Amino acid sequence: MHPISTLVKTSIPNYLSGLPIPDTIGGWFKLGVKDWAALVPFFAVIGGISFVTFRTVKPRNTSHFQSVNPSIRKDEAKVVDIVNIEDLGDSTAFCRCWRSAKFPYCDGSHGRHNRENCDNTGPVVIKK
Ligand code: FES
Repeated sequence: MHPISTLVKTSIPNYLSGLPIPDTIGGWFKLGVKDWAALVPFFAVIGGISFVTFRTVKPRNTSHFQSVNPSIRKDEAKVVDIVNIEDLGDSTAFCRCWRSAKFPYCDGSHGRHNRENCDNTGPVVIKK
């Protein structure tokens, strides 16, 4: 524990007190190249901690910022499937999660998607 104790109680405070952080806003404009170079590692660590924290705590369901379709027929302007009702069996499940390898039919891939994304999507099942 001694190395951690020394790091937290001595090394980090000494490092932080030695940073050329100005007392006023105008002081930032007076910093030299050497001062900015000394601040780069500090801001890199702060940025890294912020990034990891954001990635950890951000809501997992941000689908309104993402494409619904991650990979199915991306070369098409619009994915449209026409299924003749006579070709359906007694029961046919259509994918609504856009993860099926057999799209537009459900192949069960929604289960993995739901586990990984805390989602609850599933197929629409058409029965005769
Ligand atoms: S695989 Fe997409 S809903 Fe089942």
